[in-house]
Amino acid sequence: MLRSDVTRVMQIEREIFPFPWTEGNFIDSLRSGYDAWLFEDDREIVGYAVVMWLPDEVHLLNLSVVSSLQGRGFGRAALDWLSECTARRGARTMLLEVRPSNVRALRLYESAGFERIGLRRNYYPSYGNSREDALVLQRRLGDG
Ligand SMILES: CC(C)(COP(=O)(O)OP(=O)(O)OC[C@H]1O[C@@H](n2cnc3c(N)ncnc32)[C@H](O)[C@@H]1OP(=O)(O)O)[C@@H](O)C(=O)NCCC(=O)NCCS
Repeated sequence: MLRSDVTRVMQIEREIFPFPWTEGNFIDSLRSGYDAWLFEDDREIVGYAVVMWLPDEVHLLNLSVVSSLQGRGFGRAALDWLSECTARRGARTMLLEVRPSNVRALRLYESAGFERIGLRRNYYPSYGNSREDALVLQRRLGDG
């Protein structure tokens, strides 16, 4: 993902998340040197992901598939590819946060071998003035 892609990415982000990242979140991620991947088919965006590296762990900050293409295996393919690619580059584990209410994402992650290792209370904004907890999931990569 390049700075010039962020406008298109933001259109998708606003469509698929009730509480989307801001343009600033993407720009800061690019400036900070996080891995930011755009998955394309014939130059049409299928999805994107943002990954932050810690010394030997990666934190999956964002994984998204365009709404009209969800449920066709792209999310799983992207997650498998990210796992392989980061393992090859030395990551031993992958960590992420997910809303307990995001059943689709939770099913994907748990079926891919992620385990629940913690809970961050009131982590996410939610409707009204309320907040939603985050489940913290982790998966070993390679023979990690
Ligand atoms: C979560 C997301 C990345 C998954 O990508 P996807 O391409 O839709 O998912 P896939 O087609 O690869 O399906 C992977 C698994 O997700 C689960 N899943 C997919 N669609 C589902 C649905 N409608 N209901 C419940 N589980 C579902 C299943 O476990 C599925 O595996 P299976 O097909 O072997 O049963 C995508 O739906 C998305 O971008 N959602 C909005 C943004 C988001 O929530 N991102 C994750 C934030 S943590």
